[in-house]
Amino acid sequence: MSLEIIILAAGKGTRMYSDRPKVLHEIGGRPMLAHVIQVAHALQPDHIHVVVGFGGDEVRATTTASFPGLPLNFVSQTSQLGTGHAVLQALPFIAHTGPGDTVLVLYGDVPLIRQQTLQALLNQAGPDSLQLLTLLTENPQGLGRIVRDGDSIKAIVEEKDCDDLQLSIQEINSGIMLIPANHLSGWLDRIGKANVQGEYYLTDIVAMAVNDGVGVNALVTHDEVELQGVNNKAQLAQLERHYQMRTAKELLEQGTTLRDPSRIDIRGELQCGQGVEIDINVLFEGKVSIGNASTIGANCIISNSTIGDNVKILAGSNIDGAEVETNAVIGPNARLRPGTVVREGAKIGNFVETKNAVIGKGSKANHLAYIGDAEIGEGCNIGAGTIFCNYDGANKHKTTLGNNVFIGSNSVLVAPVTLADNAFVAAGSAINTDVPADTLAVARGKQRNISGWKRPVKK
Ligand code: UD1
Ligand code: MG
Repeated sequence: MSLEIIILAAGKGTRMYSDRPKVLHEIGGRPMLAHVIQVAHALQPDHIHVVVGFGGDEVRATTTASFPGLPLNFVSQTSQLGTGHAVLQALPFIAHTGPGDTVLVLYGDVPLIRQQTLQALLNQAGPDSLQLLTLLTENPQGLGRIVRDGDSIKAIVEEKDCDDLQLSIQEINSGIMLIPANHLSGWLDRIGKANVQGEYYLTDIVAMAVNDGVGVNALVTHDEVELQGVNNKAQLAQLERHYQMRTAKELLEQGTTLRDPSRIDIRGELQCGQGVEIDINVLFEGKVSIGNASTIGANCIISNSTIGDNVKILAGSNIDGAEVETNAVIGPNARLRPGTVVREGAKIGNFVETKNAVIGKGSKANHLAYIGDAEIGEGCNIGAGTIFCNYDGANKHKTTLGNNVFIGSNSVLVAPVTLADNAFVAAGSAINTDVPADTLAVARGKQRNISGWKRPVKK
């Protein structure tokens, strides 16, 4: 008994008004197709076939890159002649077509379909039956209607082919169906295009199954969002909000405090330890993990970073590609750029920018500084207005500080330069020579006081 999954993803998405293939438009920072593949993979099928057409090469490249190691069979459909024609393209790759083997059809533009729902559809499948996933809705507009006689399903009729009575039917076809593989080839052969749109409708196999005495059952659902297809940017935006709310609920259920679940956006994967608190308007991108008891202030953007235990990220901070260790305090309004490592208990304060820099245990840069290409030891103090001058106009150079180094305010450290343990730099210095241990460096013009100075007067 095999399960093969065919994901239809060849459509152009004309109403998206975009050069990007429809299924590559993103929900939660990932292409719609990636969401569908993830759910498909979770069902542990024998194979996943993806039917691509418009922008097929791009779809294939992007998708392969986001699922390294997962065997995906891309099948191309050069012209989009209908859903029946799309499935036909994948038919030669369906390995098992004996009794009990099944083929599940999913849509690449129905991104919020859940694994549980599909599992329920698989569970209710009889030995030789066609299973439909349908939706009862007050807004059936544009969708295929499920035509029943009493309880039994007779056919699916596309809206454009409906008579007035059929138009009033409120049970619609989601498009997702589980097909007995032994009938697939025969049914696909018989699909014609004598309909208003002149397309090969996959939905025509329902009437064929009825004719052939194959049972047709439906799993009737009520969640419009889960089965919602995306045809335009309004629907994309709507599903984005639903996806975000779904993700926020999962976080709440596992004990994360969200000050407002409608004001958090996760475009990627967020892992939270215990007792994490997240204030409003926080955006997470890529892979982010937050340790136990850490707090994230309002209006932060955190991308591809690891935040340790008991860390405080204060409001308005922007953290990208950084590692922040236990008990560190970041912000408000700090900017950590890629390659930043903030060690245990260190502090990066307001309007401090760091890049490719290790800030040692307990060290502090509390205000207004740029720290680029640096290695800073433990217990250092970087005064307000300090600039690590890492760029000579052509190349980048490194600055190294030992432990307990003190940099007075408004100093420049011109790299490459090394300041050894306990070095002390007087405020306003321009340091371009190494400073030995336990040494005070003063590198600024000497102050002169001119007494009796007369201010200029206006002529
Ligand atoms: C289809 C169903 C309709 C259902 C609706 C749900 C048919 C005939 N109709 O209609 O009953 O209510 O979905 O949204 O199946 N695709 C291809 N190649 C093609 C045509 C389509 O890959 O040649 C893909 C599209 O990219 C899309 C999916 O199949 O992912 C559905 O195609 P679409 O044109 O949106 O079908 P609908 O007319 O909406
Ligand atoms: Mg559609």
